[in-house]
Amino acid sequence: MADDRKTVVLTGAAGGIGQAAVRRLASNGWNVLAVDRDTDRLAAIAGLPHVAIFAADVTSEDDNARMIALAEERFGGVDALVINAAITGGGGFEAIPFARFRQIIEVNLFGAVMGIRAALPALRRSVNGPAIVVTSSTMGLGGESENWAYGASKHALIGIVHSLSREIGWEGIRINALCPGPTRDTGMTRIVESGAPEHFAMLARNVPLQRWADADEMAAVMEFLISPAASYVNGHAMVADGGTINGTGLAAPASGQGRVMPDH
Ligand SMILES: NC(=O)c1ccc[n+]([C@@H]2O[C@H](COP(=O)([O-])OP(=O)(O)OC[C@H]3O[C@@H](n4cnc5c(N)ncnc54)[C@H](O)[C@@H]3O)[C@@H](O)[C@H]2O)c1
Repeated sequence: MADDRKTVVLTGAAGGIGQAAVRRLASNGWNVLAVDRDTDRLAAIAGLPHVAIFAADVTSEDDNARMIALAEERFGGVDALVINAAITGGGGFEAIPFARFRQIIEVNLFGAVMGIRAALPALRRSVNGPAIVVTSSTMGLGGESENWAYGASKHALIGIVHSLSREIGWEGIRINALCPGPTRDTGMTRIVESGAPEHFAMLARNVPLQRWADADEMAAVMEFLISPAASYVNGHAMVADGGTINGTGLAAPASGQGRVMPDH
């Protein structure tokens, strides 16, 4: 190691959750290689201490190889990988063109597999409790109308986590998924936030905590999952959704406060 910091490679680093994670991890003892294809947004985190940026497309095997080589060269090794880049793709089952479906699978699934494959040799060399986190979604565990393509990609990621945890656990490398609920100030939610206030409020009402998450609340879970505090957490899909997917029916008391139901 070039210094006593551990090093994390994080994709989708220029996005809402990605930027929050870069800031949190760099402030809490990590070197961060921040990877994204959006060079304008990457520039926002370029000057931060302990952060290096790399403009790359996660669907390119060459770019994935280069990002790991760069992290090793710049920081002396790779101790954690956070696969966080993704694209959305809402639309009815019969409406989404196959070309768009392929693109979603290409970025969200192939991109993840390529990143993990590229990183494994470096993670094997780590003596700092190597770990991988893949950002899935509550859409990786449940369904939603007109969100099947994105959901399929996110379900598949959890399948990879389940199997790979059993393939590399013996080498001391952990892999887990993070499943965020609706998170504010992100590309994933910008359309809802800016264009459809009623949909925004409706999604919040669906959450027992009655609000959207802040991006840093997702970054905190990522940090936990790659930290020694999670040293026995492996093959797990950790949900951070304010309690949404475990319930059915109302997410909060209809009256707005607790009450005793009348006998009937
Ligand atoms: N925001 C939410 O409500 C929410 C909910 C559940 C899951 N997620 C997941 O969280 C993760 C982070 O998303 P976000 O909410 O911050 O959205 P975001 O759109 O702000 O960030 C995604 C980032 O991925 C990058 N990216 C996309 N394709 C890429 C490619 N081919 N190569 C390199 N970079 C690429 C984008 O440039 C962008 O910066 C995603 O995996 C998303 O599916 C988000």
